[in-house]
Amino acid sequence: MKIGICNDHAGVEYKFKLVKYLESKGFEVVNFGTDTEVSVDYPDYAHKLANAVEQGEVGLGIALCGTGNGMAITLNKHRGVRAGLAWASEIGRLVKAHNNANVLVLPARFISYQMALRIVNTWLTTPFEGGRHQRRIDKMPV
Ligand code: RB5
Repeated sequence: MKIGICNDHAGVEYKFKLVKYLESKGFEVVNFGTDTEVSVDYPDYAHKLANAVEQGEVGLGIALCGTGNGMAITLNKHRGVRAGLAWASEIGRLVKAHNNANVLVLPARFISYQMALRIVNTWLTTPFEGGRHQRRIDKMPV
């Protein structure tokens, strides 16, 4: 499984820790930047990750910014992306089980790294429930 990851300057520290963690678990991680704390514009990185998800270059994605909202709003402009913001592990479970989020968005300035790790692990290991949730997802596109 290939996982893409992107972030702005607010997410760079957690991004590097997550890349190391995911690689230690056997995932191939594609890093779409940014890699420094120099201030950048989150859409520049969100679009790179979203394009990779839509083109099947990566199966799943993780995005980090300060609140998570800039990344989530931008990512969800892409038809092939369902980006869900999570700040607790139960939300990480539900965003996969119910929303089948193919990109997990984390608010790096509002959660601890330990919480980020718990959310990522829960999201990765939770299966999509399908059924009525698939019906709802089918109604999302405009
Ligand atoms: C950057 O200061 C901040 O605006 C960004 O990380 C994010 O929170 C935007 O939604």
